[in-house]
Amino acid sequence: MIYFDNAATSWPKPEAVYKEVGKVLRNCGNPGRGGHKLSLESGRVIFEARQEICSMFNIKNFLRVVFTSNTTEALNIALKGILKEGDHVITSSMEHNSMIRPLMALKDKGVEVTLVQGDIEGKIDPEDIKKSIKKNTKMIAITHASNVTGTIMPVEEIGNIAREMNLIFLVDAAQTAGVLPIDVEKYNIDLLAFAGHKGLYGPQGTGGLYVREGLEVFPLKEGGTGSKSESIYQPDLMPDKLESGTPNTPGIAGLKEGVRFIKSVGIDAVYRHEKKLTQMLIDGLKEIKGIKIYGPHKIEDRVGVVSITLEDRDVGEISYILDRNFDIATRAGLHCAAVAHSTIGTIKSGTLRFGIGYFNTEDEVQKVIKAMEMISQNTL
Ligand code: ALA
Repeated sequence: MIYFDNAATSWPKPEAVYKEVGKVLRNCGNPGRGGHKLSLESGRVIFEARQEICSMFNIKNFLRVVFTSNTTEALNIALKGILKEGDHVITSSMEHNSMIRPLMALKDKGVEVTLVQGDIEGKIDPEDIKKSIKKNTKMIAITHASNVTGTIMPVEEIGNIAREMNLIFLVDAAQTAGVLPIDVEKYNIDLLAFAGHKGLYGPQGTGGLYVREGLEVFPLKEGGTGSKSESIYQPDLMPDKLESGTPNTPGIAGLKEGVRFIKSVGIDAVYRHEKKLTQMLIDGLKEIKGIKIYGPHKIEDRVGVVSITLEDRDVGEISYILDRNFDIATRAGLHCAAVAHSTIGTIKSGTLRFGIGYFNTEDEVQKVIKAMEMISQNTL
């Protein structure tokens, strides 16, 4: 299998991730819910995972890292736990439904939502964000990189605007955690939602939310936390306040090893490798008649996500042929991001998307280009 769907979920995982998930699954007590060895051991695993996440994103206090089941849950907590009727939030036209849908649900409850329009390459101008700020603006909520075009957003500049205007800054790092360096201090990020199963190479069912100290977020769910059990009310302690119910300990254990893997390779080396392959893929696809490539022209402006169309051919069919005839995995369609597709003009056709990961090779990229050449010539 040649796997080019890393933007959806990364595959394969580092060997240490498989081993750790299996080990913890076989030796798993309920973390924070007992004093016996297995429970304490699970608590230790989760503690170490929080520390790894902190060092990845320069988070000072590990108690401010909340584990969730995915980025969607993290974004829902961040948005619904803060925004109230009468508040205004600024987001972009390049967001995934994990941002747009909770915002639309909030809109129905009286939250004002502004979508700043991206350009044809999916780029957002920080000046447009600045111009959209109103008296009741509370938050700027933006993706770090588009899952459709790979466009990297100017989060540092936007973070500066948020700080200057005293606004809460929420970043969706689903496509960038583990790929681009993220420093919550440097970028003035107040809330960072991340996936565990993409660029951090953990298992599916893992993700998280960083919440800056002093920022109050109301929980989406209340329940058992293993703490303050004498009270019938949700404890105010972090991360317990936002982490009710038994966590996905084997998954979080795998995530810990995924983060360690990225740190051992070096995030710069991961990025350089993916950038090189992305450039190779774009250069090869450009030569094929009828292929249109979306997203930024400059390689520095994108992560390893490449969306294309081939004349008016059905992108779902191309993805099917790649899978069936060449054993190449891609994702076609709207990628749960209709507003992004509207922005780049592909809402009707969708696109065929290649999602490049650390385990992809130059040889695989060449095979993809060759396969696309054959498909374009209708020689199948
Ligand atoms: N958000 C994931 C994707 O872009 C699932 O495919």
